[in-house]
Amino acid sequence: MRFFIDTADIDQIRTAYGWGVISGVTTNPSLIAKAGRDLKEAILEICDIVDGPVSAEVISLDREGMIEEGRSLAALHPNVVVKIPMTPEGMAATSVLSAEGIDVNVTLIFSPQQALLAAQAGAAYVSPFVGRLDDIGEDGIGLISDIASIFNLHDIPVEIIAASIRHPKHVMDAALAGADIATVPFGVLEKCFKHPLTDSGIERFLADWEGAVRGNGR
Ligand code: E4P
Repeated sequence: MRFFIDTADIDQIRTAYGWGVISGVTTNPSLIAKAGRDLKEAILEICDIVDGPVSAEVISLDREGMIEEGRSLAALHPNVVVKIPMTPEGMAATSVLSAEGIDVNVTLIFSPQQALLAAQAGAAYVSPFVGRLDDIGEDGIGLISDIASIFNLHDIPVEIIAASIRHPKHVMDAALAGADIATVPFGVLEKCFKHPLTDSGIERFLADWEGAVRGNGR
C-alpha cells in the first residue's frame, strides 16, 4: 500500500515528500480553502514538488461544468488527477474524461455499489471515506475490505484510495483490508513514524556508543 498526503498545505507537502514516503497528493475544496489558495496555483505548485498523482476536485455539479473544469485542471500538468463526486452527473463526466485519457478519482464513496459504478464509468481511482463512515457508526474499514474483495474477484483494475483517515490504526487496517493507497493528513503521517521503543532504542544506542567512546579514552 502506498501513501498519498491529504492536504493543500505546501510546507506539509514539501516536508512529507522530503521524507521519501509519499507518492501522491489529494486535495479537496475544503483543504484548498483552508490553505487560503487559488485552486490552480496551488495544484501547479504541488505538481512542481511531487512527482506523482495530484488530485484536484471539480466544483460544478452538472456534467458539462465538471467536464469543462476537469479538462482545464488536467491541462495544468500531466500528473493532475481530476476528482469527481459520486453522483449520476459525476459518472457521466467521468466516462467522458476517462475516454479522453484523463485520470479520474471518484470521491465521496460510501458503498461498494458506488465503487462498482465508478469503475464502470472509467475511474482510475475510487476514494472510500473511512472516518466519515465511522463517525456515523458504520464500518469504514469494512467498506475498504468489501471493495477490495469485489475488485479482486472481478479483476477490476481500479485503485482504492482509503480516504478520510483519522489515525494510524486506520492506516494499518486499510492496508490489511486491501487498499492500494491511503491518503493521510500530515499529522497522521507523523504519528505513523512514532513508537516509544524506537525513541528509547535510539537513546540507548547513543548512550552505549558514548560510553564506549569514553571507555576507549577517545
Ligand atoms: C479524500 O480525498 C478527502 O480529501 C479526505 O480524505 C476527506 O477526509 P475528511 O473526512 O477528514 O475531510
